[in-house]
Amino acid sequence: MATRMKSEAELTAERKQAHLDLCLREDVGTERKTTLLEEVELVHEALPDLDWDDLDIASRWLGKTLRAPLLITGMTGGTEQAGRVNREIASIAEELGIAFGVGSQRAMLSRPSSADSYAIRDVAPDTVLLANIGLAQACTMELAEFEGLVDTLGADALCLHLNVGQELIQPEGDRAFRGGEEAFRRLAAGLRVPVIAKETGCGMARRTAERLKEAGVRHVDISGAGGTSWIRIEALRDDPDAGPGATFREWGIPTAASVLQVSGLGMTTIASGGIRNGLDVARAISLGASICGMALPVYQAWQSGGPDGARLFLKQVIHELRIAMLLTGCSDLGALRRAPRQLGPRLAGWMPVTEKRAQ
Ligand code: FNR
Repeated sequence: MATRMKSEAELTAERKQAHLDLCLREDVGTERKTTLLEEVELVHEALPDLDWDDLDIASRWLGKTLRAPLLITGMTGGTEQAGRVNREIASIAEELGIAFGVGSQRAMLSRPSSADSYAIRDVAPDTVLLANIGLAQACTMELAEFEGLVDTLGADALCLHLNVGQELIQPEGDRAFRGGEEAFRRLAAGLRVPVIAKETGCGMARRTAERLKEAGVRHVDISGAGGTSWIRIEALRDDPDAGPGATFREWGIPTAASVLQVSGLGMTTIASGGIRNGLDVARAISLGASICGMALPVYQAWQSGGPDGARLFLKQVIHELRIAMLLTGCSDLGALRRAPRQLGPRLAGWMPVTEKRAQ
């Protein structure tokens, strides 16, 4: 029987499905490395002069109000099933007043018919929505193509995702990374909506954020190590116990370290990568984050409990953030950012020299 060569679009869809399956079946994290958020000890306030109803966790981002400082970061799109995930989770984001990002819109470029799986504005009319494309694709795209990705979604900003670690472990991955900074410069100057530089689990160093800022970027999702590891996921598709995927399993800047690194640059910092509960959110905000992002735990909660499961999980995170705020005597997010804290030695070592403050 004659076998037909698979198209690029089919191979991408197959790879995406394998990623999703692995995320549900396997341990897709680093083995020993953590986010280092556990090294942030928020100082207990035994005498908070506050009531539960005084707590205000709202903030403004991209011209809209977030009722809680949370973002469900980009995961999926391109297939009918992915469209269902996007629609169901985006409508929960709308209900809770938090932000939502779609996964890479690369599939849309080769198969415009897959645009439906990203079209969620009707179920999330007021939500902060983020479009998404990889930097490798971005380097060869015209401005009009970016506008197309943004318009399909009615997006408030575009995430350009950085995943060099994943690409290098993936046998068929990209190997050409020149021109990235220029792509950011071009988009920051030309796109109608802001561009967000988004890592995918390896974190961002201060010098990288400084270069991005100089290129005109004002928002970074540092997506650090300690949560979902794409190096690990690619290793699981190949040989998890030997070779580059095993060697580099612990690679990346821990999430808390990366938030500290980019603090004080005047950029909106999204902390993601291993954020798993409301105390993680409070700790990341105390380090300087404006918003916290989560991907895998939301997907897992949706997968095991459907929309109700995802809603319950997110409500619990918000509830726990409020508990952390009352326990530290902080009535709003600004106060939490100034809250007294103790940093453990492994995390303190990552503090940029200019940002050292009384701990
Ligand atoms: C992702 N992530 C991701 N990021 C991105 O920019 N574009 C994408 O298409 C995807 N796809 C994707 C699929 C799945 C199933 C997961 C779990 C994650 C990365 C994600 O947005 C985030 O940066 C990391 O997963 C770290 O956060 P967590 O998972 O540790 O909360």
